[in-house]
Amino acid sequence: MDKRTLKKIIKSFGDEWYYYYDFDGIEVCKKLKENKTSGMHNWRDKLEPIIYDFSKKIIFPCVFDIGCNMCLYGHEISKMDIKVHAIDYNIEIAKFYKRYVEENLKEEWSVDLQKIDITKVKNLYFDDVNIITIFCVLYHLEPYANKVINDLSSWFPNHKYVIMQGNKSRTKRKKNPQSLAGVKGMKDILQRHNYDIHSVYKWNGYQKPVIVGKLR
Ligand SMILES: C[S@@+](CC[C@H](N)C(=O)[O-])C[C@H]1O[C@@H](n2cnc3c(N)ncnc32)[C@H](O)[C@@H]1O
Repeated sequence: MDKRTLKKIIKSFGDEWYYYYDFDGIEVCKKLKENKTSGMHNWRDKLEPIIYDFSKKIIFPCVFDIGCNMCLYGHEISKMDIKVHAIDYNIEIAKFYKRYVEENLKEEWSVDLQKIDITKVKNLYFDDVNIITIFCVLYHLEPYANKVINDLSSWFPNHKYVIMQGNKSRTKRKKNPQSLAGVKGMKDILQRHNYDIHSVYKWNGYQKPVIVGKLR
C-alpha cells in the first residue's frame, strides 16, 4: 500500500485506534507512544516473557486470543512458531494490519482470524488449543463473563492454561465497576470454573496484572 492508501484506510478507522502504531511513518495514538502499559511496551516487557516461557514447556502450543491488539500480539506469538487462532467481533483493523504486514513489511501474518461474538457464539470447537489468552477483555464481556469462562472447556477441550491480563479494577466506580479486571476478580472466576491459580504477576505501578490458571 502506498502512503495515500495507508492514510485513507487509517483515517477511516477514526477513533477506533487505542494503541500506538507506526505504519510506514503514519503514527496513530501518538500520545500513547511512551506509555509503558500499552501496545508494544506491554507486549515486550510483560506478556512476551510469560508466553515465551510457556511455549518452551508445552509441546503443541496454540493460543487463542480475544481482542483487537491481537493483530500485533498474534503476529508476535506466531513468530515463536506457535499457531494462533484469534477471535474478536471486530476484525477490520486486524484485516488491515494483516494486509500491511504482508504488503508493506513483506512478512507472513499467519494468524487464523475469526469474526465471532464470544458472548453469543453457540458452537465453537478448537481441539488444537492448549493455551487460551484473554488479555484486557474479560471485564468487557459482562454480564456474560462467567458463561464464557464456563464454556472454555467444551470449546477448547485440550486446553490446560488460561492466561489473563487485567486492568485497574475500578471497583469504587458506581456505574459499571470492573472487579473482574483486578487480581481478585480474575482469581475468583478462574477458581470457580475449575482452574488452579498457577501464577500471578503483579508489578508495582503497573496497572495490568497477569494471572495464569491451570485446569484442574
Ligand atoms: C480492550 S481490547 C483488548 C485487546 C487486546 N487483547 C489487548 O490486550 O490489547 C478489548 C477487545 O475485546 C473485543 N471484544 C469485546 N467484546 C467482545 C465480544 N463479545 N466478542 C468478541 N470480542 C469482543 C473488542 O472488540 C476489543 O478488540
